[in-house]
Amino acid sequence: MNNNIKAGLIGHPVGHSKSPLIHNYWIKKYGLKGNYQAIDTLPDALEDTISRLKDEGFAGFNITVPHKQSVMRLCDKLDETATRIKAVNTVRIDENGHLTGMNTDAFGFIQNIKQHAPGFDFTSGPAIVLGAGGAARAIVFALLKEGAPQILLTNRTFEKAQALAQETLTYERIEPVPWQEKESALKEVSLLVNTTPAGMAGMPPLDIELENLPPSALVHDIVYAPMMTELLEKGERLGNPVVTGIGMLLHQARPAFAEWFGVMPDVTPELEEKVLS
Ligand code: ATR
Repeated sequence: MNNNIKAGLIGHPVGHSKSPLIHNYWIKKYGLKGNYQAIDTLPDALEDTISRLKDEGFAGFNITVPHKQSVMRLCDKLDETATRIKAVNTVRIDENGHLTGMNTDAFGFIQNIKQHAPGFDFTSGPAIVLGAGGAARAIVFALLKEGAPQILLTNRTFEKAQALAQETLTYERIEPVPWQEKESALKEVSLLVNTTPAGMAGMPPLDIELENLPPSALVHDIVYAPMMTELLEKGERLGNPVVTGIGMLLHQARPAFAEWFGVMPDVTPELEEKVLS
């Protein structure tokens, strides 16, 4: 058996990705032999890149923008979560070269909140989710799984929120809310999650006022650069608990690492610091 385990990240662009740092940190920390590399791949080259990784005996790979949907047709099998979310971010290649597509984003979202807001009860009230793209799909799935009684789904393009709400089998628990009405929808929620890129360095901040939010509601942003987004600062100024997005990135990497390297790794303050520096 080859004990030098290879894994990587397929996407475009991938130059600024933190995933190589995270996985190579764990490889070293757990005394394993292997490496994780970023593999910049344009859409036309996806199939060839995957064949090459199979030939080279890779244990698997992460997959990111713009391939999270298109990789699905190249997988031999999808796990239940990837099937429900309709996107793959992790692939395992078995000894026969068969590909299993998985999605660990929902796990990353939940574990980050469990780590940084340990008392938070997902069943305690409705959640409002901002955005209706790929990240929102994973987060809505996660919230349903954790028993959120209702999800208010608001998006700049209302039709996308409606489509995502209707697509799920639990339509009655998801209510699409027009973007202009999001502030009034805050009154009863116990959790607010931004899944849009608004607030990321180089992007305009998220256009939202939080005055209607109950003081105990948790505010979470999946944007992690900067770590304290304007949204989180607004929440903190009002005295609301806040959870930053960096932990979601770290936690979603754990089950992928476990699939390839056989060890479920920990998220430590040292790793958080390394990723942020
Ligand atoms: P991801 O996979 O990261 O979720 P995506 O699928 O492109 O990315 O989705 C991005 C989401 O953020 C969309 O819901 C988008 O809204 P539209 O459907 O109206 O395009 C939302 N979004 C992007 N930029 C935004 C901004 N500046 N303000 C509010 N919403 C924004």
